[in-house]
Amino acid sequence: MKIAILGYGTVGRGTYDIIQARQKDFESLGGIQVAKVLMLEKEVDQCGLDPDLICTDYQEILEDDTITCVVEVTGAKDQGFLFMKEAIERKKHLVTANKAVVSQHLEELTGLANRYGVHFFYEAAVGGGIPLISPLKAQAKINTIDSIEGIFNGTCNYILSKMLDQGLPYGEALEKAQDLGYAEADPTDDVEGFDTLRKLVIVASLALGFPVLEEDVALEGISSIKVSDMDYLKDHDLKIKLLASFKKDGDDYGLIVEPALIGRNHPLYGIDGATNAASLHGNFVDQLTFIGPGAGKYPTGNAVVCDIMDLCRLKEEKINFTKRLKGSQNDIKAPYYVSLDSDQNLPKDWIDWEESVDGGKRIRTKEISRDALVGTIENLRKEGADIFFARIQ
Ligand code: HSE
Repeated sequence: MKIAILGYGTVGRGTYDIIQARQKDFESLGGIQVAKVLMLEKEVDQCGLDPDLICTDYQEILEDDTITCVVEVTGAKDQGFLFMKEAIERKKHLVTANKAVVSQHLEELTGLANRYGVHFFYEAAVGGGIPLISPLKAQAKINTIDSIEGIFNGTCNYILSKMLDQGLPYGEALEKAQDLGYAEADPTDDVEGFDTLRKLVIVASLALGFPVLEEDVALEGISSIKVSDMDYLKDHDLKIKLLASFKKDGDDYGLIVEPALIGRNHPLYGIDGATNAASLHGNFVDQLTFIGPGAGKYPTGNAVVCDIMDLCRLKEEKINFTKRLKGSQNDIKAPYYVSLDSDQNLPKDWIDWEESVDGGKRIRTKEISRDALVGTIENLRKEGADIFFARIQ
């Protein structure tokens, strides 16, 4: 199979290197040959690739009928979507790691691929190197998946681990995650939870069998966390994780991305650093947990190559997003940890425990409505308050 790789950044390079390194092993699949690598003019001099492989005009790839698969790893949102659409319309199979585009256009791209008789794979879009999408599709066919809980952002998990284990300030931990190649070009996507939200949308859509919307997800990132919040965790033998949660109960489903405090008995307690994990529950299979590297050149490139190999085998069944449930329901009841300034208050009857710390206070609430808490916090933030909150899991 002749393929074109669109983008020669972290994932593009990882994908290319793996394909080159394993040429002999792909012979039994009929061979995988990188025919072109699309990049920007300004990247050409530094790329170190054979000039015959380099391409700066996408039309050349589209018009080459010997290229039957396009691997889109640009990370670009609008441009990436256009590249993908055009590839499918030229009847080329599509493999991508672009979670932003998959999350927003899953139904459209799936429908288009079905219409043009090509395959559309996106294993690398969620969980980096973890084989998750493919087993999830299989499990969703057999089971009713009623919950998925995941750590889907390597950058956030790395930051939270470094703050807790080494007492690193938030900014320094983020810089390290960027140096290691985990973070997005704009790390706001990581730390404000958008990247996790997109990955949750993808897995929840596959679990439910119809596309859920990004707007349906309740979202809180980790950027307001302080080193002092770590003392509470240490005192109570807890860890903090940016958790993506999907829950289905009859026709209702809820989608939340927010920091959560978890104890030793939680299945994701041991997931530290850039590692990602997903724990799902199905009515027949029971609880399944997937763990692995969530970001980085070779883990993510590895997931892309797995998709290309699956394409060579052409075993994938087409998905049709046909059924719908009535709506999303995110107002859970849970106890929350809240850290805020000393002159700010939560309603007295919510408070289970409270302590004063330097310039602020920490509160553990009773089991309260998430919507009510978020409403109160939004109002306090409008007045300039610096508040961090996390669900106590
Ligand atoms: N920025 C992402 C992360 C990369 O940190 O998980 C992998 O999707």
